[in-house]
Amino acid sequence: MKLIGPFKQIVTLNNLPLRGKISDEQLEIIENGGILINNENRIEEVGSYDVIASKVKQALSNSPSLQFSTSVVLPAFVDCHTHICFGGNRANDFAMRNAGKTYLEIAEKGGGIWSSVQHTRNASEEELLETLLQRINQLISLGITTIEIKSGYGLNLESELKMLRVIKKAQGKSKATIVPTCLSAHLKPKDFEGTSEEYLQYILDEILPRVKEEDLAKRVDVFIEKSAFQPKESRKFLEKAKEMGFEITVHADQFTSGSSRIAVEVNAFSADHLEATIDEDIESLAKSETVAVALPGASLGLGEPFAPARKILDKNGILAIASDWNPGSAPMGNLIAQASILATFQKLTTAEVLAGITFRAAKALNLTDRGILKKGMKADFVVYETDNFQNILYNQGSLVASEVYIDGEKI
Ligand code: NIG
Ligand code: FE
Repeated sequence: MKLIGPFKQIVTLNNLPLRGKISDEQLEIIENGGILINNENRIEEVGSYDVIASKVKQALSNSPSLQFSTSVVLPAFVDCHTHICFGGNRANDFAMRNAGKTYLEIAEKGGGIWSSVQHTRNASEEELLETLLQRINQLISLGITTIEIKSGYGLNLESELKMLRVIKKAQGKSKATIVPTCLSAHLKPKDFEGTSEEYLQYILDEILPRVKEEDLAKRVDVFIEKSAFQPKESRKFLEKAKEMGFEITVHADQFTSGSSRIAVEVNAFSADHLEATIDEDIESLAKSETVAVALPGASLGLGEPFAPARKILDKNGILAIASDWNPGSAPMGNLIAQASILATFQKLTTAEVLAGITFRAAKALNLTDRGILKKGMKADFVVYETDNFQNILYNQGSLVASEVYIDGEKI
């Protein structure tokens, strides 16, 4: 047993609803609190530091006593949508986009997803692993200890497996929880001879069986969009992937509507993006078990509207927020800054934002053991040297986490 604290405030996120609106008055704030960690490195108790300390006196001898009693602690964050395994850089795309160039012009000048594919294919496993670990560490320093990571810049058997093996190796080298997702259906690669339907069949026949065999990912994603995969073929693909035992997530309604509907129909764990979701589809998404994932980093990277987060919550949907960190549409990679900014534009309460980057994001990954500070949960938490939790979102990403704990251990 080990007792960590005292903290000025513990924001437990306990007893909050999984779906719909949350008011800030619903937040449980424990003043002068402590977190008791058991021998399995899980949370044993969260409550008044003094009360717990008097109950478990011997635990105190091996407890770190924090230097700052004016600090605030929250459950560590979950980033449920990233593409942080990639080679190269797309700063020139960003500059061209801002100089008014169209998607087509950028692609013709060698930019776009295809340029990341070429850089990723040309990178060695060692190079990919090194930059991936740097990005994982950057996320951990923000207090993010659960990170979903997609393939999707390989787009053939060899390179998709290379990406997923690198992601698996990263899990062996990092204390963060890595959740890999196979996004071979990101785009039909330019060098694939055949239709997009045939490429999806190739993924089902050649890539996914190997992914299963090597236990590289349990989740499958597809980018449904006019410029990528069409609704009908994608639906068929997702149903087959599901039959193979994969969990489903979808890049939905980023530029055109119609695909969040498919995510709901195939019972996807999440439908992500939603910048173009129409009211009728918000309604059905909000009634479903599919988590709606807003990606404000993509809106900020592309200069596109934000996902209708307020409407989704008002209709009682499950809203999570993720960074979408990738070299193209979302280069920033700071979930806390992005979630804070989404809050100002969409009018989200502090509680709704914090739920969206903790237990609601965990739900998108089918994880139920994190994102709340209470007995039995994974002992991952983030500490800020500040006396009021409101300062975290108020500072819009510039208040840096002072300590991050994974399984009760300081990282
Ligand atoms: O989530 N929308 C599709 N995929 C990524 C962008 C990937 C890229 O531009 O490299 C996204 O925004
Ligand atoms: Fe994405």
